[in-house]
Amino acid sequence: MLETRLAAQVRCAGFAVLWGGATRGMMRAVAAPGEPIIEFRDVRKAFDSKVVFRDLTLDVRAGETLTVMGGSGVGKSVMLKMLIGLLEVDGGSITFHGEEVTRMGEDGLREVRQNIAMLFQGGALFDSISVGENVAYALREHFFREMTDDQIAERVHWALSLVDLPGIEQMRPADLSGGMKKRVGLARSIALQPEVVLYDEPTTGLDPINCTRINRLIRGLQGTLNVTSIVVTHDMPSAFAVSDRMALLHRGEVIAVGTPAQFREPEDSRVADFIHGRAPEYEDVASLLRE
Ligand SMILES: Nc1ncnc2c1ncn2[C@@H]1O[C@H](COP(=O)(O)OP(=O)(O)OP(=O)(O)O)[C@@H](O)[C@H]1O
Ligand SMILES: [Mg+2]
Repeated sequence: MLETRLAAQVRCAGFAVLWGGATRGMMRAVAAPGEPIIEFRDVRKAFDSKVVFRDLTLDVRAGETLTVMGGSGVGKSVMLKMLIGLLEVDGGSITFHGEEVTRMGEDGLREVRQNIAMLFQGGALFDSISVGENVAYALREHFFREMTDDQIAERVHWALSLVDLPGIEQMRPADLSGGMKKRVGLARSIALQPEVVLYDEPTTGLDPINCTRINRLIRGLQGTLNVTSIVVTHDMPSAFAVSDRMALLHRGEVIAVGTPAQFREPEDSRVADFIHGRAPEYEDVASLLRE
């Protein structure tokens, strides 16, 4: 239903009008579909003695939805934060359209964050301001010279309509359900009309109907607006529903990358254990209780 809505909006308003407004920068949409636009190469990251990544190597291709999976604490959120420069790497490189994010200063990172929007794990809405102001927040920050108040209001309305919540600008985040908060967070991300959207656990804590709605949105944005997505999740049905490719993180590296069909019949027993929710044989209960 929602995909039809998205398609109808784009058909009526015209792709260029919807997706070509106030955006700038050399990083936009130069890659052909399927070409790598984000490259993690031999990335290392530790917090004190806790090694999170010993060798993270992974490509993200233009136009795809790539799901990154792995147990709690494996480094999924850290990976996304390193990509947009919220955390520094200890070694290796991360590039976006061939430019090293890991060497950029604040101006470069600003441009990266304008093109790669992140939907944070907890939604990260500001409770003290309205939904409309929340969605407008990044627009005001990035386009305070280029966009008038009317243009911002129009873009906010557009973004809320895309997540199927038109006209709720005046509501407060505290008045929204968990599913609505996630969708407002998504509206805030897409208001910037980014090339890439990072979703950190977009369906966690949602009921099955809201999970399905979010999954449709992710697919809808990809199909209609050509968004490249990285979805971090340990919700297996969602992973299979939205992915073009999937990657599994385990002990500081990617141990498998492939299509959903390949993940359904994994050769690696560690992948099979994860997919089927089995605790690995070598984990004995006594050692887990001691942790
Ligand atoms: N800013 C930080 N300072 C210190 N340690 C951190 C910091 N951010 C993350 N960590 C640690 O890095 C490891 C990976 O954290 P991360 O949040 O990426 O896990 P995750 O895979 O996203 O887990 P979850 O599925 O529970 O969200 C954890 O051990 C975490 O405690
Ligand atoms: Mg996380």
